[in-house]
Amino acid sequence: MSRGPTETAPWWREAVIYQIYPLSFADSNCDGYGDLPGVIDKLDYLSRTLGVDAIWLSPFYRSPMKDWGYDVSDHTDVDPLFGDMDDAVALIDAAHASGLSVVVDYVINHTSDRHGWFLESSSSRDHPKRDWYVWRDGGEDGPPNNWLSIFGGPMWSFHDATGQWYRHTFLRSQPDLNWRNPEVVEAMMDVAFFWLDVGVDGFRVDAAHHMMKDPRERDNPPAPSDHKAPWKDMGEYDEYLHLYDIGHPDVHAIHRRFREVVETYDRDVLTIGEMHIFDLPEWASYYGENLDEFSMPFNFHLMAADWDVPSVRAAVESVLWNVPAGAWTNWTLGNHDEMRLASRLPQGHDMIAATLLLTLRGTPFLYYGDEIGMTEASLGDAPSRDPWGENVEGLSRDGSRTPMQWTPQPNAGFTGLDTEPWLPVSQSHTTINVESELTDEGSILNMYRRLLRLRRESSALRLGSFMSHPASTDDVFVFRRESNEEVMTVALNFGDDPTSVTVGSGKVAFSSTEPRRRDDIDDAVRLGPREAVVVSHR
Ligand code: NOJ
Repeated sequence: MSRGPTETAPWWREAVIYQIYPLSFADSNCDGYGDLPGVIDKLDYLSRTLGVDAIWLSPFYRSPMKDWGYDVSDHTDVDPLFGDMDDAVALIDAAHASGLSVVVDYVINHTSDRHGWFLESSSSRDHPKRDWYVWRDGGEDGPPNNWLSIFGGPMWSFHDATGQWYRHTFLRSQPDLNWRNPEVVEAMMDVAFFWLDVGVDGFRVDAAHHMMKDPRERDNPPAPSDHKAPWKDMGEYDEYLHLYDIGHPDVHAIHRRFREVVETYDRDVLTIGEMHIFDLPEWASYYGENLDEFSMPFNFHLMAADWDVPSVRAAVESVLWNVPAGAWTNWTLGNHDEMRLASRLPQGHDMIAATLLLTLRGTPFLYYGDEIGMTEASLGDAPSRDPWGENVEGLSRDGSRTPMQWTPQPNAGFTGLDTEPWLPVSQSHTTINVESELTDEGSILNMYRRLLRLRRESSALRLGSFMSHPASTDDVFVFRRESNEEVMTVALNFGDDPTSVTVGSGKVAFSSTEPRRRDDIDDAVRLGPREAVVVSHR
C-alpha cells in the first residue's frame, strides 16, 4: 500500500520518546534481568504518571549478550532473557492501548558471530553466503589495513578455519554485514517488514553511518597531535582520522532503500539513524537530498557541547539552521552509551537541562531514570560487564545502565528482594526513586511531569517556531517558541546568582525550582540561581 504526503504532522514530531534499556527496567520473573512483561507492568507509569508518548526499546532479540543485545543472533525472535514473541506482541499491543507508540532498535551494521548467516558464511570460502560478511586476505604480515575496532584492537580478526580475515567495527563477535551485497540488503529489509507487520511504529537504526566504508579500504591517516576527538575520548581509536572507515557516501543508497520499505506501510513510521557526526552539513545529509532517507538523524550535538550558555546556544542554533527545510530534528541528553546526565553536569543543572530538552523545537528523547535524576553508579572494582570497559580502561558503560530505581527498598523494586540483579542497584536508590519522588512536590520527577504536561498542552512548545532571544547573556539562555495560538519564552539561568531578563509581559507557566510559581510578568522575569522558567504570553 502506498501513502501520500501526511496532512497532519507525523506522530513522532509531537512525541516525547522514552528510551528503555530492557535489561535494566523491570524484572518480572526475578531472574535478575529486566524483561518484556516487566515493561508491560510499567506502561501505566510511562503513559499516565510520567506522560511520555512513545518508547524506544533497546534490543530484546536473540543474542549471546556479548554486547548486551547489540549482537543479534536472530533478528526475528525474542531472547529468552526477555520473554518470547508473544510477550513482544503483548507489549506492543498494550503500549498502543495506553496511547504509546513503539520504536525498536534495528541493529544492521553487524550481527553476532552466532547468527545463522555468519555460521554459514564462515563455514567455507565458497559457501553462497560467504559474501554476506566482509572477508579479506591479510596484508603483508597482519590484517588487511590499519582500521581499528571502536571497542579496541584491530577491526579485523583472523578466521583460522578458512584462512581469511573478517571485518568487525565493534567486537570480534560482531562481524560486519556486507552491505554491498544486494542479498544482505533485502534480507535485512525483510527484518524491517517482519517488525512492521508485528506493529512497531519506528526504528532506531544502530551505527547507521558505519555500514559502508571505503571500497579501496585505504589506511586511515594518523591524527595530528592537536586533533580533538569530536566526541568522547576513545583511547587508541582517536589516534587516527577516520576518513575511510566511517560514512562512505554509498551508505545513502541503503538508507533510501530502507525508507522505501517503511513507506510501503500506510502509517507514519519513524526512522532515526544513530549518527555520531558533528560536521553539520554532513550530518544533515542523512535526511537525504529529497528528504528520502531517515526521518531524522539522531542529534547528539547537545551532548557533545560544553555545558555553558555560549556553547549550548551555539549547538542549538547551528543544528536548527542546518535542518533542511520541511524536516524536523530531535534532542537528547542521555542514552545507554553515555555517562548519566546528572553526573555529567554540575549540581542542579539537570533541571535546567531537562527544561531545555523539553522546550526545544524537535522531538525530545529521554533516557530511563534521567527523569528521577539517576546518577552514574559507581561500581567499584567489579569487573566491567560492558565489553568496551573490559577492553579499554575507563570506557565501561555499566554505570549508566544500572537497574531503574522504583522504590527505596533493597533492589529498588527492580527485582525480587533475594535476587542478584545483573548489574548492582545504585546505592542512590534510597533517595532517588520513583516512589519517594512522587510524594515530593519539588522532586525532579515531578518537575519532569509538569514539563511534559506543559509541552503536551502547548502547540508552541510542541510544534512552534524557534527564535533565539536578544536578552540572552553569558549566563542566561533565552529563546522563544511561537505557534499560531501562543508565544512562549524560555529562560534558563545557568548562573549561581539571581538575575532577571526582559521578556515582555506574560505569566510564568513553569519554574524548575518553584513548582507553584505562576506570577504575572510586566516586562522582566526574575530568575533564581540555576532556575529555568517558561513564560506564556498568551
Ligand atoms: C551503538 C549502540 O548504541 C551501542 O550500545 C552498541 O554497543 C554499538 N552500537 C554496537 O551495536
